[in-house]
Order: sequence, then C-alpha cells, then structure tokens
Amino acid sequence: MSARVVYRARAFDTPDDPFDPATPAPGFRYDDDLGLAVADDGTIIARSSYAAVAAAHPDAPVLDLRSGLLLPGLVDTHVHFPQVRVIGALGMPLLEWLERCALPEEVHLGSPDYAATIAAEFVASLIAAGTTTSLVFGSHFAPAVDLLLAEVERYGLRVTSGLVVSDRVLPEPLLTTPDRAHAEALALAGRWHGRGRIRYAVTPRFALSASDPVLAACAAVLDEVDGALFTSHVNENSAEVATVAGQFPDRDHYVDTYDHHGLLGPLSVLAHDVHPTDPELDVMAARRTSVAWCPTSNSALGSGIFPLRRHLAAGVRVALGSDVGAGTGFSVFKEGLQAYFLQHLQGADGVTLGAGHLLHLSTAAGAAALGLGDTVGDLSEGKQFDAVLLRPPPGTALDLGLRHADSPESALGKVFALAGDADVAEVWVGGDQVASGGFVRPVTPRAPAARRRPAG
Ligand code: GUN
Ligand code: ZN
Repeated sequence: MSARVVYRARAFDTPDDPFDPATPAPGFRYDDDLGLAVADDGTIIARSSYAAVAAAHPDAPVLDLRSGLLLPGLVDTHVHFPQVRVIGALGMPLLEWLERCALPEEVHLGSPDYAATIAAEFVASLIAAGTTTSLVFGSHFAPAVDLLLAEVERYGLRVTSGLVVSDRVLPEPLLTTPDRAHAEALALAGRWHGRGRIRYAVTPRFALSASDPVLAACAAVLDEVDGALFTSHVNENSAEVATVAGQFPDRDHYVDTYDHHGLLGPLSVLAHDVHPTDPELDVMAARRTSVAWCPTSNSALGSGIFPLRRHLAAGVRVALGSDVGAGTGFSVFKEGLQAYFLQHLQGADGVTLGAGHLLHLSTAAGAAALGLGDTVGDLSEGKQFDAVLLRPPPGTALDLGLRHADSPESALGKVFALAGDADVAEVWVGGDQVASGGFVRPVTPRAPAARRRPAG
C-alpha cells in the first residue's frame, strides 16, 4: 500500500500494559526520531526509524513534527454532552448537584436550537482537549442526540453515544416510557450506529432513575443493535448507593441492577464505581466490563477516592473519564494528574502511578474499554492514525520543562503535570487532521441550509 504521508516525530505510546507485571519499566515506548507512514484510509502502514520509513516510501511527502511531542489521541470513556456549560459548580454532593445544576441545564436541550449550539461547543471542546475517541452520555431528547452526532460526523470524531433514558425521579421533561425509550433508541441506532466512526451506546442514566421496565427496554435495544455498547453510572456516592438499594430490594447489589438484565459484558462501561463491594467487582471482572474512573469529578463532588488497587486486584478493566460537567474540564491530562495525586495520597492503599501508567490510562486502556483496542490507542502499525501533537507556547513551564527534560520519563511526567488545551497544537483522527494551531477543521461540510428564495 502506498503512503499518503510520512510523519517524522518524537513520540510516546503504550503498546504494552504497564499495569502488567511482565511489562518492563518505564512502561511506555519512546522514539526520538520515529517514522510513521500513513495510508489514505488513515492506517499506519509502517512504523520504524524515520530513516527506514523514508527510504521505504521515497515518494511520500514528509511532515516533520519534531518541534512538538506526538502522542496517541486521548480517549475519554465518560463525558456528558449536555453539561458543557455547568462545569465548575463546586461544593455540592452528587444528588444536590444533579438537582441544582446538571438536570435544569439538560432540560434546555429539549430546544433543538439550544441543543445545536451545545453540540457545537461540546465537539469543539473535545477536539481542543486532544480527545479523539470518546464514550459520550447523550441527551434525554432524541433530536438533541441527532444534532450531536451530526456535529461529530462533521469532524469525523470517533464517538460512541446514545439516548439517555430515565422514567423516574428526574424532572418531568427528562422522563420517558419503556416503549418510547425502545423505539427512539432503535431509530437513533438505525440512523447512526456504524456510520463513519460513530457507534450507538444504550444509556440508562443510572438505576436510581431507571426502573426495571426501562432497563428491560435497554436490554432489548442492546440485543437488537449488533455491536452497540452499554453505559451507565454505578456506586458513585453513598446516598445514591443507599437509595438504589432501597429501590431494588430483590437485587444482590447496585451492579446487579444492570447485570440482572444482561446489560454487562465486554462492551459495557460503568462510570465511577467509587464504593464497590467485592462481589460487585467479581461480577464486573467476570463480565469483562470496564470502569470509567473520573478523578476530578470524584473530587469536585466529594464522591470519594477511587479504589484502584481493589479494581486491579479483582481484574476489573479501568480507563479514564472526564465526566464533564461534574469533572473540571475536558482535558484527559488533568484526569491523569488527579488520578496520580489521589493514588499517591493514599500511601500503601493507593497505587503509585508513573508517567507510563498515566499515558496508558489516557489512551490504550480507554480504547480497550470501548472495544477499539485493535483500532486505536497506540501508534503501532495496523492502527488508525489518531494522534495529538503537543507543542507548548514558547516560554511556558511545559515548553521549558520539555526542552530541559533529562529523560523521556521526566518529559512524560511534565506532560501530565503541565499539559492542557493550550498545548494541543494538532489533532488527527483516522489520518484526517481536525485541529491545527488552535483552530478546529471539519472534515465534511455542514449540510447545505435550505436555499433562500431569491428576492422579488
Ligand atoms: N449519575 C447520574 N447522572 C449523573 C451525572 O450527570 N453526572 C454524574 N457524575 N453522575 C451521575
Ligand atoms: Zn457521569
């Protein structure tokens, strides 16, 4: 296959899992003069030293990215589309925050005009943060989900999302019925699942707001849409956990409210899991279900400290989520840093995370959790070229730190300590460049507006 372009770069990635004791330190791969040949369809068709790749593809144009650092595109396994504008509310626990901040905003997405504005803001925010793949909590309103996915398609992002469904507890405009939930989800999945890089996710908000009949409707959709994902929340906050126990007296535990309906499998992602019991961890491990760990959200809502050591010991797969808008921004780097802090603060009960762990949690672990481990997550041959180039503004602490770093490990540590949106200079998804120099660039044009009748 011929190459469309050869990238020359200084690059980090984590093809081997640094949490696996068999993976040697430092748990990441670094190349300071890497060549990546990328074909028209976005596949990396050669990876080697730049000299070897350039010699094998002499006709391909070369893009020299060595003024920055190349990383795999970041993966956010839990982020809420309708919550862009509620980021930053402090001082409330989950249920109060939902009632006072998140849910009133989500009601506004019943207006398609407002939803279109939020969709544009949301997609631009993902790209600005360097997030190329994400599992997105959609809206309770089907037209808003259509608008989100149309915007996602314009930029070619790798997004899995769906209609959020609930039939109790929430404000009335956000409620549905089992039949409507089933019909609207199937219609949305029919329009979007498998179109470009978009997939459908069956999404009851949480068991607290989803009765057994709605969860059964979700199970039917999951059955009918081949390759759909499942996502929801679990064990985030003690008051939430106690409420769910009272609502489902016949279930073994919170995880069982979903498992009872067959909703848990390898393409299922449960957000938070701050307060799991051991039997719940065992069920999640047996189903190969992943947990989206959302460190800034857990801190902002005071939900608790994620028990990473217990998840790893039980064999439960873990990746990172921003949980915007309870989380404090779109940057997965910030989630990595907060993850590091909270584990380190726990002393022997925590897991001391190195830079390789943080990069893995931010990229390959997320790709694996979303069933995309063979497609993206690192920069190996055969994968899609989903990548971000970090190029910090001159004179910033990250710029100085990277120029004076005395090892690749210290450079990657500085990335997690200091990198943010302002450092994300270029973003590619499937070989298509969707951001450059701080500007986002659609890969497909917006659908033409209805033509105005000529005056007169
Ligand atoms: N549980 C149910 N809904 C939500 C939400 O929007 N954010 C968070 N963090 N937890 C939830
Ligand atoms: Zn959430």
